Amino acid sequence: MHIKPVVDDIYRLSVNIEDTNYLFEGIWPIPHGISINGYLIKAEKNVLIDLTQDIFSFPQEFVQQMGGVALDIEDIDILVVNHMEPDHSGWLREFCKRNSKAVIYCTKKAVPLLNAFAGVPAERAIAISDGMILEVGDYQLQFFDTPNIHWPETMMTYERKRKILFSCDAFGSYGSIDENAIFDDQVSSEKHAFFEQEALRYYANIVATFSPFVLKGLEKLSGLEVKVICPSHGIIWRENPAVIINHYQRYAEYCKGPAEREVTVVWSSMYGNTKQVLNLVIETLRKRDIPVHVFQVPGDEIGYILASAWKSAGLIFGMPTYEYKMFPPMAHVIDELQVKKVTNKKVFRFGSYGWSGGAQKDFENKTEKSGWDKLGYYEWQGAPTDQDKAAIQQELHTYCDALIEFTS
Ligand SMILES: Cc1cc2nc3c(=O)[nH]c(=O)nc-3n(C[C@H](O)[C@H](O)[C@H](O)COP(=O)(O)O)c2cc1C
Ligand SMILES: [Fe+2]
Ligand SMILES: [Fe+2]
Repeated sequence: MHIKPVVDDIYRLSVNIEDTNYLFEGIWPIPHGISINGYLIKAEKNVLIDLTQDIFSFPQEFVQQMGGVALDIEDIDILVVNHMEPDHSGWLREFCKRNSKAVIYCTKKAVPLLNAFAGVPAERAIAISDGMILEVGDYQLQFFDTPNIHWPETMMTYERKRKILFSCDAFGSYGSIDENAIFDDQVSSEKHAFFEQEALRYYANIVATFSPFVLKGLEKLSGLEVKVICPSHGIIWRENPAVIINHYQRYAEYCKGPAEREVTVVWSSMYGNTKQVLNLVIETLRKRDIPVHVFQVPGDEIGYILASAWKSAGLIFGMPTYEYKMFPPMAHVIDELQVKKVTNKKVFRFGSYGWSGGAQKDFENKTEKSGWDKLGYYEWQGAPTDQDKAAIQQELHTYCDALIEFTS
């Protein structure tokens, strides 16, 4: 990858994680990769905004790209650390060893993290105050505290003259970037649709828990005129930054509900008795014109289930009883949905049991504080009979009525 000009003497440095086996944050599959972007301002003092992770040969690649505008590590005077997560700060320890002069601008909360993560002493840092402006030649950098998007110490940097927002993880997306299509206006409509999916999955996996803070952050930034968004993952938005702002606004608002009139069905079955009603569930929802997204566990990745569940106003779980509890892989999904604060959903459950059941009680206990409106459930012993199927269909129609009303 080469260094790419953004506006005037502002450049993008970027690498893609291409290893399809790599799990982002150690958990999320990225079969289509992810970019990690930093930004360089070549001015009377050279500024670097966000670094990269110290995996593969990413630091060397950043250095090589900086060489494209005849700069090296030692030439950087100011380092802006918007966020201390190691995908952006992994290189910090080495960087500071090789450059002893650069002053680091970060939030107050990031200062102790500089030391904890990278052994960088507090004396090297200037803790910003919210809205503070740093003049560098013709560039005016303004720093905004944006706590909990998605770590407590996060901030964003705004170049006032050119109205460019360096938003770090906010407005980011999964997906590797083709070096010939780094701007929104260079990306095909198919690729935009792909990035929209990947932005939702990225949001649900990484940011969703902090949605109330995203809403606060968006409110705070709404007074700024933003012509270009330079995120730390994903494409640069210069033609129409409102597209990604609106996506993020919508994703964040899903936390208050209702999300979209769609249902995410997650199911598991050991011997096929629970599975026997799956098609009936799907068909009933489709007959009511409700889009359905179906996932099986174990098998389907939690990262994908989260994205779908985040966007769906309805959740339906199908699982049998296992040792007096829910089938364990489903219990994991239920837990993870609550960790990610997937809330304000209309919920239904179905499943088979062998002797005295237990999954339903376990489900109710485990979802007590979920904020889910549990509209009903249907359980049967062994294989479902025709009466069971008729009854479940009736229950589902009642569920659909409530979902339609909720999303109207
Ligand atoms: C390992 C295992 C544990 C089970 N534990 C229970 C249980 O605690 N209570 C119960 O009522 N049935 C229990 N069952 C019976 C299943 O719930 C029953 O076979 C059910 O029909 C399975 O649905 P499925 O075919 O969709 O997997 C257990 C079955 C297995 C294989
Ligand atoms: Fe992050
Ligand atoms: Fe990140």
